[in-house]
Amino acid sequence: EARSYIRNFCIVAHIDHGKSTLADRFLELTGTKVDKAQVLDKLAVERERGITVRAQTATMNYEYKGHQYLLNLIDTPGHVDFSYEVSRSLRACQGAILLVDATAGIQAQTFSTFYQAFEANLEIIPGVNKIDHPSAVPELVVEQLKTHFDLHNPFMVSAKTGQGVKELIEAVIEKVPPPPGNTDGRLRCFLFDSWYDWLNGVICAIEIVDGRLQKGDRIRSINNGKTYQVHEIGFMRLELEPRNSLESGQVGYVVLNMKETSEALIGDTFCMVDDKDIVPFEGFKKSKCMVFSGVFPIDQEECEDLNKALMKYNLEDRSLVIQKDQSAALGNGFRCGFLGLLHMDIFKERLDREHKISVIMTPPSVPYKAILKDGTEILIEKCNEMPDKFKIKTFLEPMVSITIVIPNEYLGDVMSFCLQHRSKQDEIVNIDTKHVLLRYSLPLSEIIVDFYDCLKSITKGMATMDYEHKDYREADLGKLVAMINSDPIDALTFLVHRSQAYDKAKILVEKLKENIPGQQFDISIQASFDGKVIASQKIRPFRKDVLAKLYGGDQTRKNKLLDKQKRGKKKMKMIGNVEVDPATFQNILRN
Ligand code: GTP
Repeated sequence: EARSYIRNFCIVAHIDHGKSTLADRFLELTGTKVDKAQVLDKLAVERERGITVRAQTATMNYEYKGHQYLLNLIDTPGHVDFSYEVSRSLRACQGAILLVDATAGIQAQTFSTFYQAFEANLEIIPGVNKIDHPSAVPELVVEQLKTHFDLHNPFMVSAKTGQGVKELIEAVIEKVPPPPGNTDGRLRCFLFDSWYDWLNGVICAIEIVDGRLQKGDRIRSINNGKTYQVHEIGFMRLELEPRNSLESGQVGYVVLNMKETSEALIGDTFCMVDDKDIVPFEGFKKSKCMVFSGVFPIDQEECEDLNKALMKYNLEDRSLVIQKDQSAALGNGFRCGFLGLLHMDIFKERLDREHKISVIMTPPSVPYKAILKDGTEILIEKCNEMPDKFKIKTFLEPMVSITIVIPNEYLGDVMSFCLQHRSKQDEIVNIDTKHVLLRYSLPLSEIIVDFYDCLKSITKGMATMDYEHKDYREADLGKLVAMINSDPIDALTFLVHRSQAYDKAKILVEKLKENIPGQQFDISIQASFDGKVIASQKIRPFRKDVLAKLYGGDQTRKNKLLDKQKRGKKKMKMIGNVEVDPATFQNILRN
């Protein structure tokens, strides 16, 4: 049966341990590769950052012991922000290569990806990579794999030179079971990814679990009940490779008459249009946005351009959530929701590079919750749109569990750094004689600004970190508001923990004082927490008075002059009777 010659597998690894290079070698070895560029991470940003974001799939042919095998390498993104994509791609695999860099040893993400693969019940094949490297210590990694994951006799490879790669791919054939399913059964096909392609429209990555699917077939989505016709079907090799049909066990793509990617529900099951009582596959949890930021064009006239750019972006990246937003301080813009920090960083870079629109991004915030006195629970995604204080019984904030791997000598510094971030230590494990793993629980808000950067600099770049979202926890939070002449500034309103309110308030008013030019009158700058002013500053008057030159009388001249001045400042915002250039906020919000 065709299925016994199919293997669906993935490679999981910590960032930079060589996943893409190994995938390249596989493509080369199977003669699939023609292009020099790494195909598995296509987007320029991904490549530059060395991070694979989108799940991509490559079908390869390989002859082994006289049989032709069809190997589907299902690529998985290696970062927690995309754990949703990871789980759906693992669903389509029966085996995983766990790759560890022989120069670095197991790192934070090695742990998380191992457990994901383990929980998905995959056959795990351990591999130690970069054995050609002068500073490789493969024996150490062999020990680590044994001690921490109970994995023995890993394959020794160099994805760079190709050493050991053939043995590894043959181990995939030997050890990974063929996909389950029934070729003669009624069609059941699983949708595990979708994206928008400017040439073909919506493309769905699918696995045919039971039966077969042909070009021209009419199928139905069990999820939304809509029917579609198969316009095109085929394998995903370097490019899409159309075929007449796919059958049970095969992974490939289909182009259906879908108008938008939102119709392609990840985790959906398709069956033949008239088939009844087909049992759908278990769907997936919808990914949730955990980080929010306001995005405002610096030049308000670019708002429409920004809108178009975001819509286009959204077609390719459906996990980005976009809402129109308006701020007294920053004008018209958008509120964007991201899966996590990395997702937001990639967004910033792409917006900058591909769309050339200068924007102000407000500091990232997390989705808080509040329990009201009447018992209802509400989600707070914008701090300046909160119910009155007296209605709120308590606030809840999202928590994370972080895993940090560091060389022993940084232990003290890293522990005291973590303590400054409202954390609780859950675990400390020696990975070997030189490395230690730490696990902490702490609020997500503590790690979204520059936690990882600080951790890197404390450890001279040696620390690796991964995080996992946990439940919400009650927290003593309050609203911190910056004000100019008692007028609250919406762009400078935050929910903060009581223990940090004073420090943050002080920094805010200092920065405002530095950035707001003097006026003809006193300006009072304040910050309040929970309605009480806890920091304040004054800016003394200073400005050339344009009207002083005119000796009274001539109203038309006066008006003309005022008008001219007004036009020169049409982009200014009025807050507390003070004209503020939105660019000011960019300086204040920068860190
Ligand atoms: P992500 O896409 O971020 O998950 O990274 P990756 O795991 O795909 O790592 P990648 O393949 O991009 O390799 C990271 C770096 O290690 C690159 O500079 C590679 O050239 C290098 N590298 C990969 N494999 C080997 C190897 O076997 N030996 C040596 N010396 N270098 C290697």
